[in-house]
Amino acid sequence: MLKKTKIAVFVSGGGTNLQALLDAQKSGILQSGEIALVLSSNANAYALTRAAEHSVPSAVVVRKEFASQQDYEQQLKQILTEYDIDLIVLAGFMSILSENFTAAYPKRILNIHPSLIPAFCGKGYYGLKVHEAALAYGVKVTGATVHFVNEIPDGGEILMQKAVDVLPNDTPEILQKRVMEQAEWILLPKATEQVAKALQKGI
Ligand code: GRF
Repeated sequence: MLKKTKIAVFVSGGGTNLQALLDAQKSGILQSGEIALVLSSNANAYALTRAAEHSVPSAVVVRKEFASQQDYEQQLKQILTEYDIDLIVLAGFMSILSENFTAAYPKRILNIHPSLIPAFCGKGYYGLKVHEAALAYGVKVTGATVHFVNEIPDGGEILMQKAVDVLPNDTPEILQKRVMEQAEWILLPKATEQVAKALQKGI
Protein backbone atom coordinates (compact mmCIF):
# COMPACT_ATOMS: atom_id res chain seq x y z
CA MET A 1 0.00 0.00 0.00
CA LEU A 2 1.54 3.30 -1.12
CA LYS A 3 1.86 5.96 1.60
CA LYS A 4 -0.67 8.77 1.07
CA THR A 5 0.68 12.20 0.17
CA LYS A 6 0.32 14.43 3.24
CA ILE A 7 -1.37 17.72 2.38
CA ALA A 8 -1.40 21.04 4.23
CA VAL A 9 -4.15 23.46 3.18
CA PHE A 10 -3.30 27.13 3.75
CA VAL A 11 -6.33 29.36 4.39
CA SER A 12 -7.26 32.89 5.46
CA GLY A 13 -11.03 33.17 5.25
CA GLY A 14 -14.29 31.31 4.69
CA GLY A 15 -12.64 28.10 3.54
CA THR A 16 -15.11 27.08 0.82
CA ASN A 17 -12.23 25.64 -1.21
CA LEU A 18 -11.03 23.77 1.88
CA GLN A 19 -14.57 22.43 2.24
CA ALA A 20 -14.46 21.21 -1.36
CA LEU A 21 -11.22 19.36 -0.57
CA LEU A 22 -12.67 17.85 2.62
CA ASP A 23 -15.78 16.72 0.71
CA ALA A 24 -13.58 15.28 -2.06
CA GLN A 25 -11.60 13.31 0.53
CA LYS A 26 -14.87 11.84 1.84
CA SER A 27 -16.27 11.05 -1.61
CA GLY A 28 -13.05 9.44 -2.83
CA ILE A 29 -12.23 12.06 -5.49
CA LEU A 30 -9.18 12.86 -3.36
CA GLN A 31 -7.74 9.44 -2.47
CA SER A 32 -3.98 9.65 -3.10
CA GLY A 33 -3.53 12.32 -0.48
CA GLU A 34 -4.80 13.08 3.02
CA ILE A 35 -5.45 16.55 4.44
CA ALA A 36 -3.12 16.38 7.43
CA LEU A 37 -3.08 20.07 8.42
CA VAL A 38 -5.01 23.31 7.93
CA LEU A 39 -2.80 26.36 8.45
CA SER A 40 -4.49 29.75 8.73
CA SER A 41 -3.05 33.26 8.52
CA ASN A 42 -6.10 34.45 10.50
CA ALA A 43 -7.25 33.17 13.92
CA ASN A 44 -10.87 34.03 13.09
CA ALA A 45 -11.05 32.26 9.74
CA TYR A 46 -14.21 30.15 9.42
CA ALA A 47 -11.99 27.68 7.58
CA LEU A 48 -10.66 26.69 11.04
CA THR A 49 -14.20 25.71 12.08
CA ARG A 50 -14.48 23.56 8.95
CA ALA A 51 -11.17 21.86 9.85
CA ALA A 52 -12.33 21.19 13.43
CA GLU A 53 -15.64 19.72 12.18
CA HIS A 54 -13.59 17.20 10.19
CA SER A 55 -11.06 16.57 13.02
CA VAL A 56 -8.23 17.96 10.90
CA PRO A 57 -5.37 19.45 12.98
CA SER A 58 -4.92 23.18 12.48
CA ALA A 59 -2.39 25.91 13.20
CA VAL A 60 -2.59 29.70 13.11
CA VAL A 61 0.50 31.62 12.00
CA VAL A 62 0.01 35.38 11.73
CA ARG A 63 2.61 37.25 9.69
CA LYS A 64 2.48 40.49 11.70
CA GLU A 65 3.46 38.59 14.85
CA PHE A 66 6.93 38.01 13.38
CA ALA A 67 9.80 40.48 13.15
CA SER A 68 10.60 39.51 9.57
CA GLN A 69 9.33 37.55 6.56
CA GLN A 70 12.22 35.15 7.17
CA ASP A 71 11.16 34.46 10.79
CA TYR A 72 7.55 34.00 9.62
CA GLU A 73 8.52 31.52 6.92
CA GLN A 74 10.86 29.68 9.29
CA GLN A 75 7.84 29.06 11.54
CA LEU A 76 5.80 27.83 8.55
CA LYS A 77 8.60 25.43 7.56
CA GLN A 78 8.91 24.15 11.14
CA ILE A 79 5.20 23.29 11.33
CA LEU A 80 5.26 21.67 7.87
CA THR A 81 8.15 19.48 8.99
CA GLU A 82 6.37 18.59 12.24
CA TYR A 83 3.40 17.32 10.23
CA ASP A 84 5.61 15.64 7.61
CA ILE A 85 3.83 17.58 4.81
CA ASP A 86 4.54 16.68 1.15
CA LEU A 87 2.17 19.07 -0.64
CA ILE A 88 0.85 22.55 0.16
CA VAL A 89 -2.48 23.78 -1.27
CA LEU A 90 -3.22 27.53 -1.06
CA ALA A 91 -7.01 27.92 -0.76
CA GLY A 92 -7.95 31.52 -0.27
CA PHE A 93 -4.61 32.16 1.43
CA MET A 94 -3.80 35.89 1.63
CA SER A 95 -0.28 36.10 3.07
CA ILE A 96 2.80 36.63 0.94
CA LEU A 97 5.23 33.71 0.45
CA SER A 98 8.71 34.76 -0.69
CA GLU A 99 10.88 33.10 -3.31
CA ASN A 100 12.94 31.69 -0.44
CA PHE A 101 9.87 29.75 0.71
CA THR A 102 8.44 28.73 -2.67
CA ALA A 103 11.88 27.59 -3.89
CA ALA A 104 12.00 25.17 -0.94
CA TYR A 105 8.90 23.38 -2.31
CA PRO A 106 9.32 23.22 -6.10
CA LYS A 107 6.12 21.92 -7.76
CA ARG A 108 4.77 21.16 -4.30
CA ILE A 109 2.63 24.27 -3.79
CA LEU A 110 -0.72 24.64 -5.62
CA ASN A 111 -2.95 27.71 -5.77
CA ILE A 112 -6.51 28.28 -6.98
CA HIS A 113 -7.04 31.63 -8.70
CA PRO A 114 -10.55 32.82 -9.64
CA SER A 115 -9.83 33.78 -13.28
CA LEU A 116 -8.43 32.25 -16.46
CA ILE A 117 -4.76 33.18 -15.98
CA PRO A 118 -3.11 35.24 -17.56
CA ALA A 119 -6.24 37.37 -17.37
CA PHE A 120 -6.97 39.33 -14.18
CA CYS A 121 -4.11 37.96 -12.11
CA GLY A 122 -0.96 39.08 -10.36
CA LYS A 123 -0.44 41.77 -7.72
CA GLY A 124 -3.69 43.24 -6.41
CA TYR A 125 -5.98 40.69 -8.09
CA TYR A 126 -7.66 38.62 -5.35
CA GLY A 127 -11.14 37.75 -4.12
CA LEU A 128 -13.91 40.03 -5.41
CA LYS A 129 -11.41 42.37 -7.11
CA VAL A 130 -10.82 39.70 -9.77
CA HIS A 131 -14.52 39.55 -10.67
CA GLU A 132 -14.90 43.33 -10.54
CA ALA A 133 -12.08 43.58 -13.12
CA ALA A 134 -13.63 40.89 -15.33
CA LEU A 135 -17.01 42.67 -15.33
CA ALA A 136 -15.37 46.07 -15.89
CA TYR A 137 -13.51 44.70 -18.91
CA GLY A 138 -16.69 43.13 -20.27
CA VAL A 139 -15.39 39.58 -20.80
CA LYS A 140 -18.09 37.04 -21.72
CA VAL A 141 -16.18 34.09 -20.26
CA THR A 142 -14.11 33.84 -17.11
CA GLY A 143 -13.30 30.88 -14.86
CA ALA A 144 -10.68 29.50 -12.49
CA THR A 145 -7.11 28.27 -12.70
CA VAL A 146 -5.06 25.88 -10.58
CA HIS A 147 -1.34 26.52 -10.93
CA PHE A 148 1.93 25.65 -9.26
CA VAL A 149 3.23 28.48 -7.10
CA ASN A 150 6.59 30.11 -7.73
CA GLU A 151 8.04 33.52 -6.85
CA ILE A 152 5.83 35.36 -9.36
CA PRO A 153 2.29 36.09 -8.05
CA ASP A 154 -0.01 33.74 -10.03
CA GLY A 155 2.96 33.05 -12.33
CA GLY A 156 3.64 29.33 -11.90
CA GLU A 157 2.94 26.52 -14.40
CA ILE A 158 -0.78 26.14 -15.08
CA LEU A 159 -2.20 22.71 -14.16
CA MET A 160 -5.95 23.01 -14.89
CA GLN A 161 -8.48 25.62 -15.96
CA LYS A 162 -12.28 25.67 -16.24
CA ALA A 163 -14.36 28.29 -18.06
CA VAL A 164 -17.53 29.88 -16.67
CA ASP A 165 -20.00 32.12 -18.54
CA VAL A 166 -20.43 35.74 -17.51
CA LEU A 167 -24.17 36.61 -17.62
CA PRO A 168 -25.73 40.02 -18.46
CA ASN A 169 -26.87 41.01 -14.96
CA ASP A 170 -23.92 39.60 -13.04
CA THR A 171 -22.64 41.47 -10.03
CA PRO A 172 -19.16 40.66 -8.69
CA GLU A 173 -20.78 38.63 -5.90
CA ILE A 174 -23.00 36.62 -8.24
CA LEU A 175 -20.10 35.97 -10.60
CA GLN A 176 -17.80 34.96 -7.72
CA LYS A 177 -20.35 32.43 -6.51
CA ARG A 178 -20.76 30.94 -9.99
CA VAL A 179 -16.99 30.69 -10.50
CA MET A 180 -16.64 29.00 -7.09
CA GLU A 181 -19.50 26.53 -7.68
CA GLN A 182 -18.82 25.73 -11.34
CA ALA A 183 -15.01 25.93 -11.41
CA GLU A 184 -13.00 26.34 -8.20
CA TRP A 185 -14.69 23.66 -6.11
CA ILE A 186 -14.38 21.17 -9.01
CA LEU A 187 -10.87 22.01 -10.18
CA LEU A 188 -9.01 22.19 -6.87
CA PRO A 189 -9.85 18.64 -5.70
CA LYS A 190 -9.10 17.22 -9.17
CA ALA A 191 -5.76 19.01 -9.46
CA THR A 192 -4.82 18.15 -5.87
CA GLU A 193 -5.55 14.46 -6.51
CA GLN A 194 -3.47 14.55 -9.72
CA VAL A 195 -0.42 16.02 -7.96
CA ALA A 196 -0.88 13.92 -4.80
CA LYS A 197 -0.99 10.79 -6.95
CA ALA A 198 2.17 11.77 -8.84
CA LEU A 199 4.00 12.50 -5.59
CA GLN A 200 2.74 9.21 -4.09
CA LYS A 201 4.31 7.36 -7.01
CA GLY A 202 7.48 9.41 -6.69
CA ILE A 203 7.04 10.97 -10.12
C1 GRF B 1 -11.97 32.75 -3.45
O1 GRF B 1 -12.30 33.85 -4.27
C2 GRF B 1 -10.91 31.93 -4.13
O2 GRF B 1 -11.00 32.02 -5.53
C3 GRF B 1 -9.65 32.58 -3.71
O3 GRF B 1 -9.89 32.97 -2.36
C4 GRF B 1 -11.28 33.28 -2.20
C5 GRF B 1 -11.85 32.72 -0.91
O4 GRF B 1 -11.80 31.35 -0.95
N1 GRF B 1 -8.56 31.67 -3.87
P1 GRF B 1 -12.30 30.42 0.29
O5 GRF B 1 -13.81 30.51 0.33
O6 GRF B 1 -11.68 30.95 1.57
O7 GRF B 1 -11.83 29.06 -0.08
